Amino acid sequence: MIKTIEWTDAGVVMLDQLLLPTEEVYRTYTDYEGVAEAIRSMVIRGAPAIGVAAAMGVALGMKDLPELPPEERDRRFGAVCAAISATRPTAVNLFWAVDRMKRVYARVRHEGSGEIRRALVEEARRMHAEDIESNRALGRMGQELIPDGARVLTHCNAGALATAGYGTALGVIRAAVEAGKRVEVFADETRPFLQGARLTAWELMKDGIPVTVITDNMAGHFMKQKAIDCVVVGADRIAANGDVANKIGTYAVAVLARENNIPFYVAAPVSTVDLEMPDGDGIRIEERDGDEVRTIRGVRITPENVPVAHPAFDVTPSRYVGAIMTDRGVARAPYADSLRGLCAPPPTAA
Ligand code: MRU
Repeated sequence: MIKTIEWTDAGVVMLDQLLLPTEEVYRTYTDYEGVAEAIRSMVIRGAPAIGVAAAMGVALGMKDLPELPPEERDRRFGAVCAAISATRPTAVNLFWAVDRMKRVYARVRHEGSGEIRRALVEEARRMHAEDIESNRALGRMGQELIPDGARVLTHCNAGALATAGYGTALGVIRAAVEAGKRVEVFADETRPFLQGARLTAWELMKDGIPVTVITDNMAGHFMKQKAIDCVVVGADRIAANGDVANKIGTYAVAVLARENNIPFYVAAPVSTVDLEMPDGDGIRIEERDGDEVRTIRGVRITPENVPVAHPAFDVTPSRYVGAIMTDRGVARAPYADSLRGLCAPPPTAA
């Protein structure tokens, strides 16, 4: 399986996604500032992968500290969490992961620095392992909605590279293939960062799953030609009512799918559901540097300094979403009820 991110004795190792598919370079980060920059610059990206990187960044920030008075240690921990939290605003997994690290810290903050470090590293590694497990569970349940012979359109990259491994939307496709189904993928190239053309195509080809890259503006044409049977995408944040924030362009795909009577599915672990966000209107959409639109891999494609807009995500209203595949089961409308039910903590044994 592709190794997206790993905790090692030398530091946090990440596959540099800015260089794929032409170069496969692993980078080792030894301080939290480096991890924060890797998240911001998208060396690592994709909501669940950002969550794991955030947790590992927090653990790294509390590593190799001298014994400090508790108040000073608290200040340091607060600064590390704030720096990691300020990297990217849309994917809720980042904040979910930092909150989990905060809960662990609160439990052990009166211990020695060795014990604090051990507990934080353990929690970050646990999140890494849990993410792979939850993607496999999501895949197993989600693939039941994928018919044999399906031609599946996906947008962006919601694969092994966007998670600790296996993937969400691509995890569903991998699980369908493992279940013996024939599946063919159409990958939107996903301007401007080209996650579909560079990353989805790369990882599916590695697995021998048939994939055809199309430019984003071809999706409607292929739907109308009856060349697409269903759409499966990932999510960066799902509001309590089922509105879905995902890579810019997802909304257009969902509307086209509705127009063409094609089911539109979202695949995401419950850690992507934000029950505190009533609907998609409140989700903060990241605005990225305009040069990511003006240039492709360093080559300028627009007049110099032309004004550009660059919202990195959009919100698809839940009425377009046929089902939300999660690691705890498949949610259907009305999502306010089904998501709340799936996200409820499991009952504790009496
Ligand atoms: O800007 P990115 O590449 O981090 O955006 C990624 C996406 O929008 C993915 O579809 C989403 O995070 C789900 S990844 C399993």
